[in-house]
Amino acid sequence: MITYVEAQPKSRRTPGVIPLHGAEGFEGMRKASALTAQALDILFDFVEPGVPTAKLDQIAYEFARDNGAVPATLFYKGYRHSICTSINHVVCHGIPDDRGLREGDIVNVDLTLILDGWYGDSSRMYPVGEISRKAERLIEVTYASLEAGLAAARPGNTTGDIGAAIQAVAEGERMSVVRDFVGHGVGRLFHDEPNILHFGTPGTGVPLKPGMIFTIEPMINLGKPHVKILSDGWTAVTRDRTLSAQCEHSIGITETGNEVFTVSPGSLFNPLEARKSR
Ligand code: MF3
Ligand code: CO
Ligand code: CO
Repeated sequence: MITYVEAQPKSRRTPGVIPLHGAEGFEGMRKASALTAQALDILFDFVEPGVPTAKLDQIAYEFARDNGAVPATLFYKGYRHSICTSINHVVCHGIPDDRGLREGDIVNVDLTLILDGWYGDSSRMYPVGEISRKAERLIEVTYASLEAGLAAARPGNTTGDIGAAIQAVAEGERMSVVRDFVGHGVGRLFHDEPNILHFGTPGTGVPLKPGMIFTIEPMINLGKPHVKILSDGWTAVTRDRTLSAQCEHSIGITETGNEVFTVSPGSLFNPLEARKSR
């Protein structure tokens, strides 16, 4: 006998149901996410003034192809690229193109690789040459906000605790949290339940349970939090054109805390720290 629930296609998000994954899911996520992190590591040395973001897209595509993985964004809802490249005031979903990066730019590269059906989703900031002190501060605060979110991601807490921790860090530095895009459940789906808001009230939302797998991906602005979407239908920019930064990990909730699946093998996740040690 097969029950109604079991008969549902595995590839569909079920409203109100948060999947709890076991050892197999964690192992699948480890492998997919390690590959994503390795690809983002490889891009580190290519990000330089004059390099077009389309070149980064090509490198990511070829890396996926050579490693038996598929970029999740390729042909996703009409998107035609392997990565998103979000420069300066672009908040997220920037489209790779043939224009060269310029000295002083800050660019987020967001990559999701599908390996054996599991989705490893991560993004990082890359400084192009020398960047301004205010851009550096924005990146520092964005990474600190993700760290605060990770510290709150454990059983006994709720999704609202994660958002509140992120918001406190960003607003404590007089920066703002983007409301329009959220972290998400991930696993054998690109975007699953739960939604992870990067702002909120402690104790609200969904209680965190071992086996939940989701992303945390705060977008922090130097100015106001409001965004608009450009006419290409994808590119989200800050309405006030102030700088925006983002970083993203895929994690799994464990009995005692969480496991970060998208750890950088070369310790290159935080570009400012990575530069100091090179
Ligand atoms: N990887 C992004 C995320 O963090 C999603 C990119 S969707 C795209 O969820 F359509 F822009 F590609
Ligand atoms: Co992503
Ligand atoms: Co994501």
